[in-house]
Amino acid sequence: MKIIILGAAAGGGLPQWNCGCVNCRAARAGAIPSMTQSSVAVSADGRDWAILNASPDIRAQIAATSALHPTGPRDIPLRSVLVTNGDIDHVAGLLTLRESQAFDLFATGAIHEALASNPMLSALRADLVARRHVVLDRPFALLPGLQATIFAVPGKVPLYQEGEVVETGLIGETTVGVELAANGRRALYVPGCADLPGWLTDRIAGADALLFDGTLWQDDEMIRLGLGGKTGRRMGHAPARETIAALSATPVGQRVFVHMNNSNPLTDPRSAETLEAEARGWQIGRDGMEITL
Ligand code: MLT
Ligand code: MN
Ligand code: ZN
Repeated sequence: MKIIILGAAAGGGLPQWNCGCVNCRAARAGAIPSMTQSSVAVSADGRDWAILNASPDIRAQIAATSALHPTGPRDIPLRSVLVTNGDIDHVAGLLTLRESQAFDLFATGAIHEALASNPMLSALRADLVARRHVVLDRPFALLPGLQATIFAVPGKVPLYQEGEVVETGLIGETTVGVELAANGRRALYVPGCADLPGWLTDRIAGADALLFDGTLWQDDEMIRLGLGGKTGRRMGHAPARETIAALSATPVGQRVFVHMNNSNPLTDPRSAETLEAEARGWQIGRDGMEITL
């Protein structure tokens, strides 16, 4: 199995268009690597590919990834797209994927409903893009030779569906992780997760690779930096610092943070927090990083 991190950043990317924080300024100056928004590609055979989350940067991400380049006049080796929630950074790229490419679009019923309620997405032609409803905890073929199982993780509804009161520990069809299995190897992709209860660490145990929500380093990071009023948990993201501790006794082959917000010190390869995470067995996802299992 091969996984390519197309974009390692959370919504907004690095630098974010309107952000003057330390990391965004460093990225603009070329002092730290820029990152595009949250998306990965996976393949069991290097021939047929699936994209997990279609970020608003998908056009540039595909251009930067030779495995996804066209093999015909209007055809790239993309067979499937799976989205793990309805967040804008995970679905807005579907608008880019509208130009005569056939693929299956996999999501839960709740996420499909969110997509169906946006008339602009009807630009994905029904005769080319089959919208496949996936049931939690039931394995299905994402690609030839690659099985996927989605599972609920603590999360919340997308920003554009939030009401007065927002429940951030929702367990259901709104936020899911994906278990990928091919050639006897098992990888988990969980780019958004508000909490790490014991049943989830049990599920993670023994995976060959884990790509996990690294949005923020600490819960009140955005507030401290004057970038916003929300905590990580309020946004549906457990802080990476606590995730490292929560998974310290859980056996995992390769552990990689993805979906980093631009406020996160992990975006700086030389920060004390990056060195600490690396010393504790974590890798920091970067655009173009390949994981071969
Ligand atoms: C998130 O991961 O918290 C969302 O992408 C936020 C957003 O929709 O901007
Ligand atoms: Mn996001
Ligand atoms: Zn910033």
